[in-house]
Amino acid sequence: TGNVTYDPGFANTASTKSAITFIDGDAGILRFRGYPIEQLAKQSTFLETAYLVIYGELPSAQQLSEWEDRIRRKTMLDERMREFFRMFPRRSHPMPVLASGLMMLSTFSFDSLNDTPEGIEKATERLLAKVPTLAAYGYKNSRGEAMLYPDNSLSYIENFLRMSFGYPTEPYEFNDEITRALDVLLILHADHEQNCSSSTVRLIGSSGANIYASIAGGVNALSGPLHGGANQAVLEMLEAIRASGISVKDYVQQVKDKKAGIKLMGFGHRIYKNYDPRAAIIKQHADAVLRLKEGRRDLLNLATELEQTALEDPYFQERKLYPNVDFYSGLIYEAMGFPKEMFTVLFAIGRLPGWIAQWREMRADPGRKIGRPRQVYVGEPERAYVPIEDRT
Ligand code: CMC
Repeated sequence: TGNVTYDPGFANTASTKSAITFIDGDAGILRFRGYPIEQLAKQSTFLETAYLVIYGELPSAQQLSEWEDRIRRKTMLDERMREFFRMFPRRSHPMPVLASGLMMLSTFSFDSLNDTPEGIEKATERLLAKVPTLAAYGYKNSRGEAMLYPDNSLSYIENFLRMSFGYPTEPYEFNDEITRALDVLLILHADHEQNCSSSTVRLIGSSGANIYASIAGGVNALSGPLHGGANQAVLEMLEAIRASGISVKDYVQQVKDKKAGIKLMGFGHRIYKNYDPRAAIIKQHADAVLRLKEGRRDLLNLATELEQTALEDPYFQERKLYPNVDFYSGLIYEAMGFPKEMFTVLFAIGRLPGWIAQWREMRADPGRKIGRPRQVYVGEPERAYVPIEDRT
């Protein structure tokens, strides 16, 4: 088999060179195109960060307003796609609806399929514009509520909030604190180098598959509880702890015993062996947003106690397990009014610029090769076929 290295989970294999995101996991540093995440979270907007992640530089004022405008004018879905949402059962989980919606979108979009630079440009804007619409409609449909047309007088984030929570019969009232908190949360998720979903996007695209097909694969990879699905799993864990009445100390002990097969969801990371810088920023916002929904403060207190207990415990210290981005994000999404089934969809909206940037970087690489890992074969050696009547 030649010179094959066995590396389960690709823990030590760099699959690509990339100029998009820098992480120093030991120091807890995250930068997009050289800009520290803390500065972007404070000063940028999601669409500006998307531009930065995809094109490599911050836009000028004119570039930004043109970019926002081009995206705003692409937010509507083909009218026929309304029927598509009705095909799903009521209460369908919005992640598979989003993944299917991306494939549906590809059948309405021909630009990207011939891979011209203009086609990729259009697909980039179309994806950024239409994914929030797909996400909001998936949510509306799961509740049997009317799907609202986007309103082009609104910002990207406002449009999404109104399509998610608004009704056609009354004006939607925005809360600036919620709008900004969602903007920041999406910025924090914009890219994270070669994580499971982004690697999936690259791997699918490496065969020459189009950007919609590749990103639909990314959404599916994100859905798992060890990846983006962790934000939903954290809230479920907190609710389960509270419902069972078990103490935080006993719960942490169960995790450490490894008997029940439970993990502390929202803790640990392949790369971060220090506090995830995104989690630190989210935690700052948690208090402000939870002020709006006092009822859930008990869960925030529970999460804080869980974090404290784990951080002081040698099991977590020895393994360098710290809270990751998913530990607090669900609590904020919930306070904004999203049900927990929507949390991972919000992660997907945030990660979209990263998937697009990774796909485009891969496609632009003249030295690109189809992704094709090796294996170590451990099965039977050669043996002769046995006719069915001779088998015991
Ligand atoms: N709770 C308890 N023990 C853990 C946890 C946890 N959350 N995470 C890792 N460990 C233990 C693990 O059992 C192992 O112990 P031992 O050496 O005794 O076998 C050790 O720490 C190393 O863990 P690993 O599984 O080898 O680490 P990994 O890099 O393969 O996995 C991870 C990374 C994120 C999948 C894992 O930490 C995990 O499952 N965390 C919980 C799920 C989660 O929060 N995922 C979100 C990740 S962040 C953003 C995102 O991608 O969505």
